[in-house]
Amino acid sequence: MLGEERVRRGLSLEEVARRAGWANESIPRRLERPGGNPTLKSVQRYAEAVGAELDVGLTETRVLSFFNHAGGVGKTSAARDLGYALRALGFRVLLIDADPQANLTAWLGVREEVPLERTLYPAVIGSPGDPELPEPIEAHGLHLIPSTLELARLEPQLIGVIMGVTRLRSAVRRLSGYDFVLVDPPPSLGQLSALAVIASRHVVVPVPTNVKGFEGVKTVVQMVREYRQAAPDLEISMFALTHFDGRTRHDRESEESMREQLSSIAPVSSPIRYRPAIYKDASLAGLPVPLHDPGGKAEEEISTVTGELLAALGVKVGV
Ligand SMILES: Nc1ncnc2c1ncn2[C@@H]1O[C@H](COP(=O)(O)OP(=O)(O)OP(=O)(O)O)[C@@H](O)[C@H]1O
Ligand SMILES: [Mg+2]
Repeated sequence: MLGEERVRRGLSLEEVARRAGWANESIPRRLERPGGNPTLKSVQRYAEAVGAELDVGLTETRVLSFFNHAGGVGKTSAARDLGYALRALGFRVLLIDADPQANLTAWLGVREEVPLERTLYPAVIGSPGDPELPEPIEAHGLHLIPSTLELARLEPQLIGVIMGVTRLRSAVRRLSGYDFVLVDPPPSLGQLSALAVIASRHVVVPVPTNVKGFEGVKTVVQMVREYRQAAPDLEISMFALTHFDGRTRHDRESEESMREQLSSIAPVSSPIRYRPAIYKDASLAGLPVPLHDPGGKAEEEISTVTGELLAALGVKVGV
């Protein structure tokens, strides 16, 4: 398709290579070849050089949750940054903050007070009948159902709602116009986490590359099995390695053993390195890391993991 577009615009392969900053025309030629499996990034670069818009919409909305009951493992950062990276590739993305800590909301720069009606609360506890999510907030091209500390009220109330933990699932299924819905649960095994994970089809498990991180995975796997009673199609789609410190032997060995032992369950991502300054600054600035530090190593890692996630989900962009 891109090849046809190039010819229609009267551009030679050499010209496209020059505009994209590639050494020669063999790269665009390869991209035009049918049956290849190019990276989204190179297809994007090609499209930009040709001056064409890349339409990467999916036919079906993919709903993912970033689940690990352990605290501080990088769930919210992953939802924010992978969400942003997917948006930057052209996908339509909705983020749902299901954590009363509301970090995702704050880290996307939402500073105003969030009333409970703007959160997922009314879809779950609201009037009986078909649950519906409120209008999302927009932030950096992403749509967001925000959270607030008040959302903690939902957990004790949820027990009294028949099939309560499946109501977010129903609400999300009624959405249209999104390629990806990413849900960020709190660090617990409570009702809010159940609600968030059961709403999704794909679970991404952020795991720090250390022994403690590895040990926690067993419970995550068991819980996903339990949640499957309410969400039969639920699967772990990727382990996302986080907080990696490649200078320590401990982290390198942990990475290796995780790759060895977890790959039979789901693909294990490339590691996202521990970069406290960048992550802290990005959060304080209310910006996704790729936007806060464009062109940096952190962005590169996020982009790599995003590509791995798309591959794990079987999302391909044809040329
Ligand atoms: N790659 C990284 N390098 C350095 N710091 C990071 C990295 N990723 C996340 N952090 C920081 O680690 C802390 C925990 O990350 P994050 O909040 O994303 O994890 P979480 O699993 O969502 O936490 P919680 O369980 O509290 O919801 C945050 O302060 C965040 O800024
Ligand atoms: Mg979090």
